Amino acid sequence: MTKILAIESSCDDTSVSIIENSKVLSNVISSQYFHSKYGGVIPELASRAHLNFIYEVLFKALHESQTSITEVDAIAVTSEPGLIGSLLVGSNFGKGLAIKYNKAIIPINHIEGHIYSGSLQDSGVEFPYITLVVSGGHTTLFLVQSFADYQILGSTVDDAAGEAFDKIASMLGLPYPGGPHIDKLAKAGNSKRYNFPRSMINDDNFNFSFSGLKTSVKYFLEKEFSGINFENEINDIAASVQQAIVDVLVKKTVDAAVRKNIKSIVIAGGVSANSQLRTEMSSKAKELGIKVITPDMQYCMDNAAMIGFLAEKKLLSEGFDRFNDLRFKVKASALRAKSVKRIKN
Ligand code: KG4
Ligand code: ZN
Repeated sequence: MTKILAIESSCDDTSVSIIENSKVLSNVISSQYFHSKYGGVIPELASRAHLNFIYEVLFKALHESQTSITEVDAIAVTSEPGLIGSLLVGSNFGKGLAIKYNKAIIPINHIEGHIYSGSLQDSGVEFPYITLVVSGGHTTLFLVQSFADYQILGSTVDDAAGEAFDKIASMLGLPYPGGPHIDKLAKAGNSKRYNFPRSMINDDNFNFSFSGLKTSVKYFLEKEFSGINFENEINDIAASVQQAIVDVLVKKTVDAAVRKNIKSIVIAGGVSANSQLRTEMSSKAKELGIKVITPDMQYCMDNAAMIGFLAEKKLLSEGFDRFNDLRFKVKASALRAKSVKRIKN
């Protein structure tokens, strides 16, 4: 029996989770909605808010799981990538707990957490699979062979899909984060009304590009609606923008599965909450006999359960001795294409 206390604080969600034998006993997430009034996450305010909430979130997670901190075997923390101040709050808080209670400490890469989040509720997900991690900061396709081995197939060369949703939503006068608002408006819109670009959709690689879409929507609004209220058209614009993003995400992900002869796809990250992405990915994949795993929303968004889940795998495969060093690096930078991480089996 292994019990892990995990802490995630890489951006604007403060989360603590207790994991035991791959089961989530608690997964408490406190989201910093106040950034909405600034139109984006303000790093300094994010780290201060993590400081204010982390105790409360910790106690709630311990209480919900009926766990005493002395019972846990190790503390897992997100060490990269993310906002550096936010990462430092969670990782230093974890280090403090590790020192006080004499526990192992396991640094975890946030994106690796997302990659394996499909296993959190569906322990039957079989390797190999393709994971699309699609959020405000990332749009990356992975070929996942085991908990010990994965490979980046492609990534965005400019904006992440979530960033495109958010920036275009802002042009439409919608609040931050804009993705959920576009999703909602699109339900009553005609997605064929406007034809926005699907950059790189037919390129012979698994990379993405979304900055051209953003620019195209900007010029479109300036040309068609300069000085004119577009309120009556907003549903159609939202639906057409969403369709352009979803078409690219679905085509590239399904193509990756087909070309690599893979039978399962996991979608993770905030944008995987998008209703049309979920529906279209599932239906396209189904036609080809491919299974799509869409984690529950609490595991799609930033959460500590995915950090604890992977930490437990690492602890079991690499042993406690490997995780007693408090001097690990906390880094803002993301995974780079072609990198392959391995855990000893
Ligand atoms: O994973 P996440 O919570 O944080 C990051 O790591 O970025 O993702 C947040 C992103 C935002 O860009 C937000 O607009 C987008 O996920 N998002 C959505 C939806 N829900 C959240 N985008 C499209 N449709 C949604 N329903
Ligand atoms: Zn994330």
